[in-house]
Amino acid sequence: MPDLFSQSADQPLSAVATRAAELRALLHHHAHRYYVLDAPEIPDAEYDRLFQELQAIEAAHPELRTPDSPTQRVIGQVLDGLLPVRHAVPMLSIDTETDTTPEGARAFDARVRKALSLEDGAPPVEYAAELKFDGLAINLRYEHGVLVQAATRGDGETGEDVTQNIRTINQIPLRLLAPPHTAALGEASPWPPEVLEVRGEVYMRRDDFEALNERQREKIAAGAKGEKTFINPRNTAAGAVRQLDPAMAAQRPLSFYAYGLGEVRGWAVPPTHGALMDAFVAMGLPVCEHRTLGEGAEALVAFHARMGALRDSLPFDIDGVVYKVNSLALQQQLGFKSREPRWAVAHKYPAQEMLTTVLAIEVQVGRTGKLTPVAKLAPVFVGGVTVTNATLHNEFEARRKDVRVGDTVIVRRAGDVIPEVVGVLPEKRPAGAEVFTMLTHCPVCGSAAVREEGEADHRCTGGLFCSAQRKQALLHFAQRRALDIEGLGDKLVDQLVDGEVVKTLPDLYRLGLSSLAALDRMAEKSAQNIVDALQKSKQTTLPRFLYGLGIRHVGESTAKDLARHFGRLDAIMDASVEQLMEAPDVGPVVAQSIRTFFDQAHNREVVEQLRACGLQWAEGEPAPRALLPLAGQTFVLTGTLPTLSREEAKERLEAAGAKVAGSVSKKTSYVVAGEEAGSKLDKARELGITVLDEAGLLALLPVDG
Ligand code: IVH
Repeated sequence: MPDLFSQSADQPLSAVATRAAELRALLHHHAHRYYVLDAPEIPDAEYDRLFQELQAIEAAHPELRTPDSPTQRVIGQVLDGLLPVRHAVPMLSIDTETDTTPEGARAFDARVRKALSLEDGAPPVEYAAELKFDGLAINLRYEHGVLVQAATRGDGETGEDVTQNIRTINQIPLRLLAPPHTAALGEASPWPPEVLEVRGEVYMRRDDFEALNERQREKIAAGAKGEKTFINPRNTAAGAVRQLDPAMAAQRPLSFYAYGLGEVRGWAVPPTHGALMDAFVAMGLPVCEHRTLGEGAEALVAFHARMGALRDSLPFDIDGVVYKVNSLALQQQLGFKSREPRWAVAHKYPAQEMLTTVLAIEVQVGRTGKLTPVAKLAPVFVGGVTVTNATLHNEFEARRKDVRVGDTVIVRRAGDVIPEVVGVLPEKRPAGAEVFTMLTHCPVCGSAAVREEGEADHRCTGGLFCSAQRKQALLHFAQRRALDIEGLGDKLVDQLVDGEVVKTLPDLYRLGLSSLAALDRMAEKSAQNIVDALQKSKQTTLPRFLYGLGIRHVGESTAKDLARHFGRLDAIMDASVEQLMEAPDVGPVVAQSIRTFFDQAHNREVVEQLRACGLQWAEGEPAPRALLPLAGQTFVLTGTLPTLSREEAKERLEAAGAKVAGSVSKKTSYVVAGEEAGSKLDKARELGITVLDEAGLLALLPVDG
């Protein structure tokens, strides 16, 4: 862009002033595109350049600095307190319809019709429906188009002056844009109006809230004193608006939506609420896109349902919707009932946050032995269901939130997300409430509970001995890729464990036909099938058996590597951490996990008993991978091969020491392509990787593969 206005020392002040005004207008325009419309026209760097040019002019000529200059968002001193502001037009609140069913909307329509003396046959009333934002109501006073004051609602008559902080919200224009004169906006009106007060809600987006809390957690972790995490977006927004230090407020990312008018002088107000919102949009004010106009109660019912379904995916919290009679003339006719307008109502959704008390903190044992502290709550209806439990995740989280038995807590349940304790009300804490500490032993089996370095979770070390882990362990052991015991599914395992018929893995092989047939809904034929399946599973392979034990971090491929590297089970059971780490792809975490597992006497006992029950597999000589023909080579399989299945090809490659990967990269040694090979083949060609067909693959494999 040619820069015709670059300032030079000999430029007359009038030219500089013109350029400053031009820059302000440009920056207002582009800030509106960026912050309000989310549709920038110029790159950020160009905006920054314009901004810096204006800053330079203002530094050289402070007299050209205006209050609406985009450089003047964060200004002012730390205050001793907020000053009172008397509202020219009182800021009222709205009546709340707490019946969250469609009847809430119908009841409002009926009241409006009655107040307007509309007969049954009379045409429906037109309404504007919008969201009820969960934030803080603010009055923005624009004089001659420039923001001069922002105030909180306070008691409705008198609020507090929060201008300094509100100026830091980029979405709020410091100067209003001139709206075009359209029919919908009513008669042509002079611009800018002498006074135009815009009312709306300051709120915090959920992602901004999460990011803010993440920064707080980092500060706390780094040892910062006096920092805390915030409870919810609403309270955080309210706190930020009332901050005494504007620089601090600027660090709390706030947003704004306009929804109403205060005092107006010198502007022809549009005839309807909908047209007023359109005028706000034209002035550069943010107005929420989720709004509609509709006739009669059923339009409101539909909007309530539609927004209810959308609620959890909105980027901010709402606690309901608001219905307003659309015609401002009818609004005036309806007037007020004590403090609330008869022409508007808030129709709520079930609350997503409620207060309740913590009755106890229990520790539950998860499927992999993870110990989870769970707050047992006095039953509370939140997010549409009765909640009695909320997870505290782990000891760190429980301590961070400092949840104690007897505490009054805020419980949140949004959508399908599991209920959560978001915060504690410390002032309601009973005397003597104790800090939560994690158990030292598993509450179910009494084994030691340990937390490994660098991990947040405690785990029960009981492994297969712990009954809480037993069901999962049995299912894992029986699955197709492990011992492949057909018919041993969820329902049977539940019955066997709950009835204490099976306590350990070896107990499975002690099941007789009669004890199985005695179970609920178990026909003799099915019982026989299970007995046969158990018998069949006894002949297995070392990798399947190892994988089936369910050792943490030992998946199928690690089990294969271990079996190949060590050859025999006893060699694995007796290997030191260092020796285990010599196996391919076994690092310190995996090695330690294997060692911990076999250090438990219970686990060794289980292995011995399984062998005694007749489980067997071929054992071999240790075959360190380095000696295998395809050691160090990575293959990727794609498409259908003429004779080998994908599984077979994989097994034979692995047996020869190769790794089989799922995607092609520079590290891939060969791609084996069959019929209908897709993008992996293209990628291989692109990277210049050797492509083999099945014959080429077989030529690389050892003959006895
Ligand atoms: S209209 C006279 N519209 O809810 C009517 N209020 O008690 C003035 N609120 O204090 C309010 N979203 O903070 C209106 N779309 C919306 C709203 C809304 C949230 C808040 C506002 C007000 C409270 C109602």
